[in-house]
Amino acid sequence: MQPSELDIVQADFLVIGSGIAGLSFALKVSQHGTVAVITKKEEAESNTNYAQGGIASVVSTQDTFELHIEDTMKGGAGLSRREAVELVVREGPERIRELMSWGVQFSRRKAESGEEVLDLGREGGHSRNRIVHAADMTGREIERVLLERAKESENVRIYENHIAVDLITEHHLRGEARTPRGKLHCWGAYVLDIESQKVKRFLAKVTLLASGGVGQLYSHTTNPKIATGDGLAMAYRAGAEVANLEFMQFHPTSLYHPGTMAFLISEAVRGEGGILRLADGRDFMKNYHPKGDLAPRDVVARAIDQELKRSGEECVFLDVTHLDADFTRKRFPHIYGQCLSLGIDIAKSWIPVVPAAHYMCGGVVVNLEGQADIQSLYACGEVAHAGVHGANRLASNSLLEAVVFAHRAVQKAIQEVGPTGQFSFPDIPPWSEEGTFDSEEWVVISHDRAEIQLLMTDYVGIVRSNKRLQRAKQRIHIILQEIDEFYRRTLVTSDLIELRNLATVAELVIRSALMRKESRGLHYTIDYPQRDDQNWLKDTVIRSKGAGR
Ligand code: FAD
Ligand code: SIN
Repeated sequence: MQPSELDIVQADFLVIGSGIAGLSFALKVSQHGTVAVITKKEEAESNTNYAQGGIASVVSTQDTFELHIEDTMKGGAGLSRREAVELVVREGPERIRELMSWGVQFSRRKAESGEEVLDLGREGGHSRNRIVHAADMTGREIERVLLERAKESENVRIYENHIAVDLITEHHLRGEARTPRGKLHCWGAYVLDIESQKVKRFLAKVTLLASGGVGQLYSHTTNPKIATGDGLAMAYRAGAEVANLEFMQFHPTSLYHPGTMAFLISEAVRGEGGILRLADGRDFMKNYHPKGDLAPRDVVARAIDQELKRSGEECVFLDVTHLDADFTRKRFPHIYGQCLSLGIDIAKSWIPVVPAAHYMCGGVVVNLEGQADIQSLYACGEVAHAGVHGANRLASNSLLEAVVFAHRAVQKAIQEVGPTGQFSFPDIPPWSEEGTFDSEEWVVISHDRAEIQLLMTDYVGIVRSNKRLQRAKQRIHIILQEIDEFYRRTLVTSDLIELRNLATVAELVIRSALMRKESRGLHYTIDYPQRDDQNWLKDTVIRSKGAGR
């Protein structure tokens, strides 16, 4: 074996990310070939692991597919793609049954007939109780089971502490091979093994991007540290289309407790009767929407933002003190315990809450089989844009979309892989670190992460304006330039990879927000306060020329 071959890992399928999208795909394709799952931290660390409310699906006789479809379309404010919504809703119940068959234990209750049935929660924008959940730790339960099942498969290998740096396409090849003949092709990814500090080539016939969200763009987010938009930035650099990145969803209710990391207070709390109140006790949501506390998220987050600006207070409050205390403790054990550890007994006191960056509704453009517009590249879950969520995702439709699209992607991906074990790749050069050095100058740009978070929070938040977006654009260009220069002359580290990706995605979000000259769903600007269906009933699409490194 040549020394350079030591850094090559080959598999039929490469999966980037070990959340619900990546693991459910990996499990299924493992019956048709070898699977390398890379994940940049510990295997369970993902947005999935923190999901609270549950998975929306039509599993009750009181509910219909048509109602779930209409609720989702309404939430999407005119931009959801009906075909995508229909298939996610219609295929949902089968995926829920499959999760249960793998061992996921969802919460149950006794029906009047005495039969044990799934307990269905309610969340904003849903006209029926349809949220299948595992108390308030749905994601943890799903992640636990998916990891257990993945480890039982001989064909799946999970590489922890491996962070993808860039997707491998023609741009990384030498000589004439650099020029794509037709569509670009993806042969895997350059991946940094964080422990050995070596960049390896992970080569695969099919690559799935399942790298999750971008919450770390903002100072206050419900997302864990891994959510730095790596997949979006990599796909964009590779030349894939990305769309609708202006639709960053802010969750209305994260715990307000300065000095601690943001912690989500699930929308299911309002679904069970929680009431949003101002400091003086007034419940205000009925002034903003007929559905009051259960209005769609964009409406609730904007209402809180407006009330806080008006009053100058730091937070509003969520009141569940009127609910039975035993019920509250049993239905929300995680939220109850977390708040109690900070000195708030939610059965007795109101919960201080503020909105926090939560979910990216746009992403890498994919078709109904999860295929991006680069050959052999698929994307599922939060990183992808299949058109389901439009301008505003409905609560608990994200886990659903991820698991349905991962299933759909499997069918195409296994066809593409063909006979297992036969590999034919072009000559893919090893990662080049020529001219780079191990820098001690990291301190020079280490503050850029916080600066990006601040500028996104201040200028690209719940309420926007041209002036603020322009200011954000100017500043992000300076930061991007600084990071790019540093990147070109320095050995890659995981901090640097994430920083570069955050800056890239920040720039894309700002650019998308400036493109959309109207207010719709999650994108609200004081310069164009109305929805403009005549000119803007369309996605904002951006594509780079595909530059590789
Ligand atoms: P994730 O679960 O985020 O997984 C991404 C994976 O990619 C991680 O393993 C990460 O380490 C890895 N990764 C990222 N970049 C790289 C890289 N460069 N190299 C290698 N690995 C990488 N949705 C609902 O539908 N219902 C809910 O109740 C709900 N509650 C939520 C509560 C919270 C607090 C949060 C944060 C989100 C919630 N959501 C909910 C949203 C939902 O959890 C996510 O959208 C969904 O889990 C995304 O799944 P995913 O598989 O796409 O990504
Ligand atoms: C929540 O539990 O409120 C989060 C649900 C979601 O983001 O879909």
